[in-house]
Amino acid sequence: MDEPSGAPVTHKSPQKPPPGTRLIPMDLEREDERTILHDQRLICGWAINKIPKWRQSIAKGDRTLFWIALPLSHKTDQTPTLHHSPVEGDAEEILPVGHIALDRIDDPEDGVAPDPTLVSGDGSVLTISALFVLPAFQSFGLGAFAMDGLEAMARTERYGSVKCRAVTVNTLSKRYLEGPEDDPDGRGRWKRLGETPPKRDNALWYARRGYVPYKEEVRYWSDLPNGERLGWVGVFMRKELDGADAIC
Ligand SMILES: CC(C)(COP(=O)(O)OP(=O)(O)OC[C@H]1O[C@@H](n2cnc3c(N)ncnc32)[C@H](O)[C@@H]1OP(=O)(O)O)[C@@H](O)C(=O)NCCC(=O)NCCS
Repeated sequence: MDEPSGAPVTHKSPQKPPPGTRLIPMDLEREDERTILHDQRLICGWAINKIPKWRQSIAKGDRTLFWIALPLSHKTDQTPTLHHSPVEGDAEEILPVGHIALDRIDDPEDGVAPDPTLVSGDGSVLTISALFVLPAFQSFGLGAFAMDGLEAMARTERYGSVKCRAVTVNTLSKRYLEGPEDDPDGRGRWKRLGETPPKRDNALWYARRGYVPYKEEVRYWSDLPNGERLGWVGVFMRKELDGADAIC
């Protein structure tokens, strides 16, 4: 799928998603939902091949993936719609413009051990992952809306746990976005991949939402054309939920 173009929402207010924006649980047993998710992951560039694994995790109850969905009035020619049939209520056509996961397990890339600080077995710590908003729909408050929604759902038995006291995220360390262009372990590393550094620091975005960094370590891997595997340091961040006692 080509990257969508054109501004779908005329009022550019980062903290106010359009009325009717919703989080809708994904059904990865359906081929049309898997196809749309795959197309969105291709644009995102990470975890493109994890959909079969995510499908299994959902079936086991370890994870819920949600569509970030807009009303059809925001449809563009490039954005596919989805026929959604809820367990309760009437079937409808929705516009899935991004996705996000709430996880009871840590499910890192192959070859990386699950991190015990990201989730806890008793449900008191859960992790949010796989956040993505299609570029044409970014900066309209949808990312913030999705995070708010999952932080609330984390404390429900249906999607999280009533014991949940904190949520975590992990993302690329800012070391790859700053410093000299020729630092092979910093900003200069993108040259080895033939790519340019990302313009935005996701850790900063999470920090603005109350997430506090607590450690950095190698978390992601890239395969280079010469067969070499390149490890990337991730930053781990945590937010205590409102009304919950800190449990450090
Ligand atoms: C990060 C992401 C989910 C944010 O979604 P969004 O819907 O654009 O976020 P919001 O509209 O709620 O927030 C927008 C604000 O955050 C800023 N912002 C958006 N993405 C940002 C990023 N990656 N880093 C820092 N700031 C960012 C915007 O400039 C805007 O700030 P402003 O009002 O000062 O201009 C989105 O940019 C995205 O999908 N990026 C690609 C995938 C990705 O990096 N996911 C996170 C993986 S850990």
